Amino acid sequence: MALKPVTTPDIEAATVELSIDGRTVTAKDGVSLYDVISSTGKIVPAMCYHYTFDPFGSCGMCLVTVEGKKAPVRSCTAKAAAGMVVRTDGDDLFQARKKAVEKHLSVHPLDCPVCDADGHCELQDMAFQHQVTNLANAKQKLIPEDTRSPVLDFNMNRCIACGECINVCKDVLMIDALQFIKKGGFTQVVAKGDTALACEFCGDCLAVCPVGAITNKYSKYLYKPWQLRKTTTTCNYCGDGCQMHLETKDNEVVRVTSPLSWKNKWGDRGDTAQGHGGICVRGRFGFQYIDSQARLRQPLVRRDRKLPEGKLTETPWLEAMQTVVDRLAEIKAKHGAQAIAGLITARCTNEELYLFQKLMRAVIGTNQLDSSSRYGHLNFVRAVQHSLGVGRMTNDWEDITKAKAILLVGTNITETNPLTAVRVKEAIRVYKSQVIVVDSAQTNIAKLASYPMVVTPGTEGLFVQGLVKSVIEHDLIDAETTGKHPEALAALKRAVADVSLETIAARTGISVELINEAASIFAEAPRAIILCAEGVVRRPDGYQNVLKLVDLAWITGKLGRPGCGVNTLTEEVNEQGAVDMGAAPEFLPGQARFDDEAARDKFAKAWGAALPAASSGANLMEILERCRSGAIKALYVVGENPVATLPASLDVRTALEQLELLICQDPFMTETAQLAHIVLPACTYAEKEGTFTNLEGKVLRVRQSMDPIGESLPDWHVMTSLASGLGSQFEYESSQDIQSEIMKLLPGYYNLGEPRTLSPRPDAYLSNGYVAEVGSRYGVVREAVSERNDHRPFGLVMGQLLYHSGKLSTQASGLLTIAPSAGRLHMNAQDMERLGLTEETRVRVTSEQGSLEMGVKDDLSVMPGSCFFPEHFNDPPIKDLMPVAVDSVTGVPYFKFAWVKIEPVSRDASAHATPQDKARDKAREKAKDKGRA
Ligand code: SF4
Ligand code: SF4
Ligand code: SF4
Ligand code: FES
Repeated sequence: MALKPVTTPDIEAATVELSIDGRTVTAKDGVSLYDVISSTGKIVPAMCYHYTFDPFGSCGMCLVTVEGKKAPVRSCTAKAAAGMVVRTDGDDLFQARKKAVEKHLSVHPLDCPVCDADGHCELQDMAFQHQVTNLANAKQKLIPEDTRSPVLDFNMNRCIACGECINVCKDVLMIDALQFIKKGGFTQVVAKGDTALACEFCGDCLAVCPVGAITNKYSKYLYKPWQLRKTTTTCNYCGDGCQMHLETKDNEVVRVTSPLSWKNKWGDRGDTAQGHGGICVRGRFGFQYIDSQARLRQPLVRRDRKLPEGKLTETPWLEAMQTVVDRLAEIKAKHGAQAIAGLITARCTNEELYLFQKLMRAVIGTNQLDSSSRYGHLNFVRAVQHSLGVGRMTNDWEDITKAKAILLVGTNITETNPLTAVRVKEAIRVYKSQVIVVDSAQTNIAKLASYPMVVTPGTEGLFVQGLVKSVIEHDLIDAETTGKHPEALAALKRAVADVSLETIAARTGISVELINEAASIFAEAPRAIILCAEGVVRRPDGYQNVLKLVDLAWITGKLGRPGCGVNTLTEEVNEQGAVDMGAAPEFLPGQARFDDEAARDKFAKAWGAALPAASSGANLMEILERCRSGAIKALYVVGENPVATLPASLDVRTALEQLELLICQDPFMTETAQLAHIVLPACTYAEKEGTFTNLEGKVLRVRQSMDPIGESLPDWHVMTSLASGLGSQFEYESSQDIQSEIMKLLPGYYNLGEPRTLSPRPDAYLSNGYVAEVGSRYGVVREAVSERNDHRPFGLVMGQLLYHSGKLSTQASGLLTIAPSAGRLHMNAQDMERLGLTEETRVRVTSEQGSLEMGVKDDLSVMPGSCFFPEHFNDPPIKDLMPVAVDSVTGVPYFKFAWVKIEPVSRDASAHATPQDKARDKAREKAKDKGRA
């Protein structure tokens, strides 16, 4: 089991005194003796002990003497008790430990010269420390290497059977993909069932392995540890913002490791509620895009501006930038600043996002700008800013871990934010948290939850209404918090008066009893947290749905109390930073409203420029509309790819083809860049300095770990040159210079790794405006943009896979090996059977928007009546089947869900089978053969 704190937020363990090497030490009763010893600064040799899970006690290294015991004891598994007298040193202990090392080494291959762990191997260190030279009875195990997994190789000749890989997978990650078996006379680690490993491929087992028994296929034999330069930086895939080490050799990324691999496992045993230091599959195995051959290396300019005839031609930077500047200046002079707009990805750093909006507003003079936070996160930000006066989640990882109840709504958290998911798992496992999961799929987190509620697709928001209604109906209301706002409470009661739990039960598919049970679990928990994501914020009424969650938290007293709050999960790493830096038409940096006079004055003064008119802004959808109408003539796109992201019904391509000038700045030739007049090669996060703000609000460092690929430049550098070319002196020589400016304008923003505590302030909202607006968000609910009917009975969800993040990860060969574009619709086996489908059948999927052919595969997590397609691949372009609606308050476009018809068209999908599919098919065949035999 994971490292169970003997002291929890609810139970304080007794303090005891014991003697260690003659020194009196205090400790919590029952804690591992090894922990107590190391808290004194003494490091006892150990190999199988690790700070993330409970001791296993197999290696025999951590021996100490305890008065009254005849033989030395293993200090990791011994528990501290009052009056213990412990000795940690002495020749007897040295010899006993040396014997243990000899035992391990006597069956070890000693192939250190070709072992990945050479120089970072605990067995090597122990042998050295104990001067082990005599291995007279050594014998080889001669076990063939297990190379069946796509990313990890298992060399069981090197295994010391410490169990760390199994323990981290089972106890910390709760995935449980590995096991010991006895094979060929030796204990070996294999995937469960001794098949090819099919797991989340996070590589935490590799990180904790003290020797080189588990190796990374992508970096094996490519380096000796001393050849690698290790740079600590922040992952740029999801909003968890994990700390990781990019290890490079000769300007190539060789491998990615995590603090879990490098933390001193004997001395640093902080509370794992802060994070265990691991990373996920994307962080560890998704690095190849950084130095991929597909990277853009030089600027490209389309000399003949006519599309598509004119060709993009390699052009020197100076000339390309001069062309950008001249054309932008020309368009501005001819049509005014309102003819220019910009879009930026939330994978840029804070400094770049800040500079982007400053360039657009203070230099070009337009407030037509937006970022990828518009795809959903802004629904959350706008709703909590409106209701609570805060602009991000208010809890941190530690609050999540220690919550007594967690309500997860519309989030497949283990896929989108795997490391935040590990905190939820720890809450379940260590703190026995009650977890309620509301989602239309049988997600991995639902399998671990006490209350998995699999709802009809699109009804997550309706379910939240049910919870609010149930709390009111059963008088689970917190008198203290609601007592201050009786009128608001009365208005909410009126608003839900006509809401029928029976109707909600019928529409969501969850019984009234279960809705009531979930409501009471949440309301009665002393510390309860809400986590919502795509199934709420990226669905129709996303903004209103967040406000309903705020209502739920308010009436149950879960706003502002320690360990309680309403939170969201960000999919792209810097969605929070994009909003904080003002890369949205409604916000200036620091989330000041763009129409706030005092804020406008402050920034206009600081930037030495008048700001565009308060009402002149345009968000993503408005920008595209204005491109289409011809009002916008030039678009500056930094890292965004609307052509590949948005459905065909929006006709983004036509909108962009109207432009006189499309500038794309990107590390890759995206679908949008293919339409551009000028393409500027941008660096990835690995080639630049800066910061990201993760979902907890922690500002985390991005450090340059290699030289830019080709002639690519950091985005901030290009923006600085562009501003200078347009006549404004941006005097930034480094991202640090931009940081200094942000620090002056937003004091306290750079908390560098420490979450800033935010307290929700709902009073102003509850006493002003709440009564007037609450009625409109209850009652009639739009579950989806399209309507379900007998012809289109399947709810098609387009969503994220664990192995990918947006489109960026599709440039990472490591992730494509694990999860290639399969072109298959995921369906429930029952539905497949009912429709007469097999995995060889191709199907036609038809929505109101159109129809596409694709393969099909069964997926246990998909419920009957639903189907799923990964959003990362446009093969076939599933997004084009999606109807689009735009949130009337926030402008967020909804296009991830459609009602569809599924019909078989042929029986040959074998060409679309992935290696995993084929492996599974083979395994099935084998199982069938076994059965027949
Ligand atoms: S890679 Fe991760 S999920 Fe897979 S076996 Fe190792 S620890 Fe478990
Ligand atoms: S593979 Fe590594 S971590 Fe797993 S039991 Fe063997 S030595 Fe320990
Ligand atoms: S993708 Fe997210 S969870 Fe995975 S390593 Fe990166 S930041 Fe961490
Ligand atoms: S560290 Fe205690 S037995 Fe291995």
